[in-house]
Amino acid sequence: MTDISSASAKTASKPNGEKGKTFARKVKNYSRYERFWHWSQAILIFLLAFSGFTVHGTIRIIPFHSAVMMHDIAAFALIFLWLFTAFWTFTTGQWRHFIPTNAGLWEVIMHYLVGMMRGQPHPYKRTLSRKQNPLQSFAYFSIMTVVGPLLWLSGLAYMFYSFWEGNAGNNDIFSTIVLLHLVGAFLMVAFVIGHIYMVTTGKTLSHYTKAMITGFEDMELTEAEVTYLETHEPDRIK
Ligand code: HEM
Repeated sequence: MTDISSASAKTASKPNGEKGKTFARKVKNYSRYERFWHWSQAILIFLLAFSGFTVHGTIRIIPFHSAVMMHDIAAFALIFLWLFTAFWTFTTGQWRHFIPTNAGLWEVIMHYLVGMMRGQPHPYKRTLSRKQNPLQSFAYFSIMTVVGPLLWLSGLAYMFYSFWEGNAGNNDIFSTIVLLHLVGAFLMVAFVIGHIYMVTTGKTLSHYTKAMITGFEDMELTEAEVTYLETHEPDRIK
């Protein structure tokens, strides 16, 4: 077991004004599967946005029929990835990081709107049990429970239209489904743009991106967190 006294230590103020020691350590925050699903989801969403907006007529780089094929294959791959990741998230207990909370949400929003431009430190201190700030949890939770299902439900109804086109009234339902799919697509693109912006606001431009590639990131840990990791999950701490 590593001697925690050898870790660089500094005194940090806890929110309640009490003084507590924290230790700067490299922690593996993202497992191999987590990094795999993050990057494969990113690629699939990019392919879906590119092919979808080609079908819509906004982009004209590849032929229409190739875009339809790309969109259909990527959509099935993404649905499969989402289902498997939902299963993984629940069986590994990772779902706890995604539960939204409004505690500290306003401080984080104000940090991105004002504090960050003034060079103030991020108000949220990430812990082992809560690695996302409240704004992240809120955004990811909305994507998983609203935008994702809106896209795949409307997308599947769109894909299998020939099975339910039946009578004339269904034409209006179809137009509504296409509209809902487009709303979902715009929300997803807006999320991706916001996400890419947030990702560049770490200690350095590439801080968060490197963490999602290597799995490791610099964290300030409490003595209890260091002891916990060194005892129970030594591979996660350097
Ligand atoms: C995840 C499940 C998804 C399914 C099942 C799905 C399914 C479909 C289907 C069947 C079409 C009609 C063209 C075709 O057959 O390829 C379509 C169109 C489209 N999709 Fe998706 N899609 C999904 C996700 C996405 C995502 C993530 C985006 C964008 C971020 C997106 C954006 C679009 C757009 C813009 C259109 C064109 C709509 C129009 O104007 O007709 N889709 N989608």
